Amino acid sequence: MSDLTSTFKEAMSRFATGVTIVTTKDGETVHGLTASAFCSLSLEPPLVLVCVARTIRSHDMIARAGNFAVNILNATQRPLGERFAGLIPDVEDRFEGLTYTSAVTGAPILPDVLAWVDCRVWAAYDGGDHTIFVGEVLAAGVNDPLQAPLLYFHRHWAELGLPGEEGN
Ligand SMILES: Cc1cc2nc3c(=O)[nH]c(=O)nc-3n(C[C@H](O)[C@H](O)[C@H](O)COP(=O)(O)O)c2cc1C
Repeated sequence: MSDLTSTFKEAMSRFATGVTIVTTKDGETVHGLTASAFCSLSLEPPLVLVCVARTIRSHDMIARAGNFAVNILNATQRPLGERFAGLIPDVEDRFEGLTYTSAVTGAPILPDVLAWVDCRVWAAYDGGDHTIFVGEVLAAGVNDPLQAPLLYFHRHWAELGLPGEEGN
């Protein structure tokens, strides 16, 4: 690995992010991946973006299906983040034992997430070894009461207390 590559990776690891599970429904098949490369893009029209590695299974499924949902994880949902990142051995079906709902596109919406958006793929851009999928938000939801978010920082999972809680 070149000096620039390793320093670039280290620099990017120092950007704290939330953690999402991006799901898709491709025909009758549902799938999902843990993703931190997610952000809000536009209000009018409502757009978000996710960056998905070209080499992973989810990539072609999202491209083919033309839909995805983004589920924003709360601090108790690290096990889900690990499962959908492929970090738990012998998990064939990442949705096994999970109940989920759907909104407009059919992409799975997971229970108890902080919030979710359901999207139709609006555009797909070349992002080097990733594709930037821009999603038009067709439906969105939040779960109350507000819970603390799950974070990822420097290759570690972390939790952020709720603003206003003692110690913050
Ligand atoms: C915290 C965390 C964040 C991740 N963010 C992304 C991401 O934004 N985009 C991506 O393509 N992969 C990301 N990954 C890796 C995917 O979750 C992982 O490659 C997954 O197993 C892909 O599944 P698939 O091959 O079944 O599609 C992340 C992994 C972790 C642990």
